[in-house]
Amino acid sequence: MCGIFAYINYLTPRTRKEILDVLIKGLQRLEYRGYDSAGVAVDGDGDDTIVVRKSGKVQALLDQIETMCQESWKTEEGAYESHVGIAHTRWATHGVPSETNAHPQRSDPHHGFLVVHNGIITNYKGIKLFLTTKGYQFESDTDTEIIAKLIHHLHKKHPDYSFRELVETCIQQLEGAFAVCLKSKHFPGECVASRRGSPLLVGIKTKTNRLATDYIPVCYPIDHRGTEFPLFTRNTSMAEFHPLADEHEVEYFFASDASAVIEHTNRVIFLEDDDVAAVKDGTLSIHRLTRSLDDSHAREITTLKMEIQEIMKGNFSSFMQKEIFEQPESVINTMRGRVNFENQTVVLGGIKEYLPEIRRCRRLLLIACGTSYHSAIATRQLIEELTELPVMVELASDFLDRLTPIFRDDVCFFISQSGETADSLMALRYCKQHGALIVGITNTVGSSICRESHCGVHINAGPEIGVASTKAYTSQFVSLVMFALVMSEDRISLTPRRKEIIEGLRLLPEQIKQVLALDSEVEDIAKFLYQQKSLLIMGRGYNFATCLEGALKVKEITYMHSEGVLAGELKHGPLALVDQHMPVVMFVTRDPTYNKCMNALQQVVAREGRPILICNKGDTETQQFAFRSLEVPHSVDCLQGILTVIPMQLLSYHIAVLRGCNVDCPRNLAKSVTVE
Ligand code: F6R
Repeated sequence: MCGIFAYINYLTPRTRKEILDVLIKGLQRLEYRGYDSAGVAVDGDGDDTIVVRKSGKVQALLDQIETMCQESWKTEEGAYESHVGIAHTRWATHGVPSETNAHPQRSDPHHGFLVVHNGIITNYKGIKLFLTTKGYQFESDTDTEIIAKLIHHLHKKHPDYSFRELVETCIQQLEGAFAVCLKSKHFPGECVASRRGSPLLVGIKTKTNRLATDYIPVCYPIDHRGTEFPLFTRNTSMAEFHPLADEHEVEYFFASDASAVIEHTNRVIFLEDDDVAAVKDGTLSIHRLTRSLDDSHAREITTLKMEIQEIMKGNFSSFMQKEIFEQPESVINTMRGRVNFENQTVVLGGIKEYLPEIRRCRRLLLIACGTSYHSAIATRQLIEELTELPVMVELASDFLDRLTPIFRDDVCFFISQSGETADSLMALRYCKQHGALIVGITNTVGSSICRESHCGVHINAGPEIGVASTKAYTSQFVSLVMFALVMSEDRISLTPRRKEIIEGLRLLPEQIKQVLALDSEVEDIAKFLYQQKSLLIMGRGYNFATCLEGALKVKEITYMHSEGVLAGELKHGPLALVDQHMPVVMFVTRDPTYNKCMNALQQVVAREGRPILICNKGDTETQQFAFRSLEVPHSVDCLQGILTVIPMQLLSYHIAVLRGCNVDCPRNLAKSVTVE
């Protein structure tokens, strides 16, 4: 996955420098989606196009642009009344990270057509072969290059086609997932973008921030004509959008997500799969490739509630650190308007209408990847207890590999911070095809999982930029706990249990603050651990998810090997690893598994292990076995995992800093995994 960004100004004079600044800022906001190379394309002098591509982070691209920047790029005389700039930050899938493989990819040395792309074109080899027979030579190892060259080929064949028609014809040949933005010197001032499976939105900015309408009509194909490619459709009707009849200056942005446009505008359209959005002469039109009965006739212009401060680092050294420290507020935001602590009630508006159907279901499936999957593990036991339904927890990729049987009376939850994870999205579509009810638990309004679910819960954690998920995990956790509470609201026998959990939720934000106050103690432990090769993290019951999540955090941002071990499995293998050298973190909190955890602790000590213990405040009895310990406040068993995971988030953060790792941009990873 990658980040794509485009900026189009119309009748709003901008110097080349200003245009580049907007593009680079957009890329910086999207950098968490990929950071192994970056590039931009803007107009040059005459009909020249300037393309700058650089290996490494966006900063390297910026440095390069600054060395190229001439005085004329900064002056009003050199300003463009109307201009299209496209930009990209890459996370390599096809072809190593390099300047040649960076985007924009071009159709020809004269930059006839330039494309930025997020996703994977699975049939690119066939198209490449076809184009090679037409005389095209390829410069990169990317799948993306075929898009630019195919459009070039189509343009030669159909010189009368508009830019949009060329893009439409091209993308009908593509299989796989994509979001693309294109610019062409044959169509100056025009930009065409489309998506299938990868996210893309349009931001609209006018001078007065007024818009004439809250929606934009969608055009459907109404006539067909044959070409060498089947299925070519051409629209003859036009439904175009100009934001204001009496105001002509307008700026448009195309971006992979809202964080890249929010500093310019909060008015956005989330494009649907197979929408083709085109900007020409300040006018935006959205066309569809095909028509089906349930297609809507318009795209809504959404007003985002996101604040610019939410995507700034403030005084923190990294987004991850900021997001860890935001958790007292983010869990409040997750509960706001939903948990009534006085009446001890919980309401989830997004699933309310579907509750009778959910209560009647055969089983609940919680399907996710990575950290989001861990939030399902963390809450499964409580959901089983309060719903008395069988609960299956599934990794989306494995679930699909097994073609797991799904029935009409199943309820499938898809938990995803980004709402765009390809494995989860494909599992969702599979379950939907099999007639199950789909519930989305996401943090991203307008995301694919959000839109394709029948109903859902927005976790309201606020934008999460650090690649390693932290506050989204605790908010997913709280959301699933709230779901269990909603499901059991009319069970008299469960009233005392529900009461203690709701009371636990009330205390949570304050208790999280107490855990965050352990930061310097955690840093001390990190100093002791950071040169180690491996770290075992052990616990059981409600703390097992914390072990898995803690180990994932350590692996992904410190590159140290780490493994979450179920303490009940210790004697079935992992105990062989324990000696005086192997670092071990153990969770032994006062819950129903306490005695069993103590057994495991004693076994570790008996093998000369030196456990770092995470236990409840004031528990000196347990601490006597510890080499080092951290005390967290006691909570009700099913919420304790929220308080025990935070020391692990802090620990991985400090180890990463001590090892000199880039906390927000761990190598080989990206925030939103929109490819399988
Ligand atoms: C780890 C992490 C990943 C994601 C996973 C799923 O810190 O962030 O493991 O949890 O890629 O992503 P979402 O939740 O966006 O579906």
